Amino acid sequence: MSKKIFSGVQPTGNLHLGNYLGAIKNFVELNNDLENDCIFCVVDLHAITVKQDPKELKNNIRETVATFVACGINPKKSIIFSQSSVPAHSEGAWLLSCVARMGWLNRMTQFKEKAGKDKEKASIGLFSYPVLMAADILLYDSTHVPVGEDQKQHLELCRDIAQRFNNEYKVDNFFKTPEPLIQKEFSRIMSLKDGTKKMSKSELSDLSRINLTDDKDLIVNKIKKAKTDPLPLPSSLDELRERPEAKNLLGIYSSLLNSTMSKSISEFEGKNFSEFKEKLSEVLAEKMDPISKEIKKLMNEKRFLDEILLDGYKKAYEISFLKIKKMHEIIGF
Ligand code: TYM
Repeated sequence: MSKKIFSGVQPTGNLHLGNYLGAIKNFVELNNDLENDCIFCVVDLHAITVKQDPKELKNNIRETVATFVACGINPKKSIIFSQSSVPAHSEGAWLLSCVARMGWLNRMTQFKEKAGKDKEKASIGLFSYPVLMAADILLYDSTHVPVGEDQKQHLELCRDIAQRFNNEYKVDNFFKTPEPLIQKEFSRIMSLKDGTKKMSKSELSDLSRINLTDDKDLIVNKIKKAKTDPLPLPSSLDELRERPEAKNLLGIYSSLLNSTMSKSISEFEGKNFSEFKEKLSEVLAEKMDPISKEIKKLMNEKRFLDEILLDGYKKAYEISFLKIKKMHEIIGF
């Protein structure tokens, strides 16, 4: 059955291996399936929920498009556009924010993490962030949303908002309730410096992540410095429970090779980390270095990137405009 795929990535710089293995790699596979209609959005409205430098933001928007293309998304097959270029997203977010409940948003763990101790100082946008995300998804009647594990709660909220709108206005199935597509085994890639923390763009130490623009030497160096433990590699999945760094590195290795944890465990059981790290660096460099080179090449082709965004804008505008128009009728405007 054909799927309507929607997903978004924030243009906040430092796209990393977690974004790739948790989400973008999956986008590419979905894009390659001829039956799917895919939309991939550079979610710049989400990015400004925390302060951004305008020049850097503009550059990061292009870099996100370049990353999509360098990873293998075909802009002729999938729609790629920036969220801010299509006004339906801001408007849809407002309309849906009158349906979403404060109590629902108060439960969002990502807001709690990002706002930190001083919630009073967080932007209202950061709080209502998941409502904008719901608008993104629902405007296109999306059926499936590929994301990393950290977005699961936001997708549940999106389903709640869709159902509440349908119930409140008695419009059965007007909004489809989308399914999350979260990879089973490797949906959460952890920091190279601390296996209990998510790999993230905002982590201060660059050594905590492999950026998608890192070259071979940098990748090898970061893996060399990645945190490990003193034991040799384990012989079973069970033994990994208390060894987050070993689990993460083996997970990265398995995911890159489209393999399984059990296979990787049997390949390296009893061996020491230096031997495993050498192999991991090799695989990482082989897979990621061409992507890094392609991103850098595409960043010199600004017109090409801007044309992708313009073409995507036209297509996304048309679809979302009709959905907003129907929302107006339903609401009574
Ligand atoms: P963002 O930009 O933080 O991340 C983009 C995608 O990368 C995934 N991801 C990870 N996966 C595994 N391990 C990690 N360490 C890791 N870090 C990030 C995220 O789960 C995400 O899939 N709110 C979204 C963007 C968004 C969106 C949407 C997504 C806006 N509207 C509509 C889907 C549908 C976000 O902040 O992603």
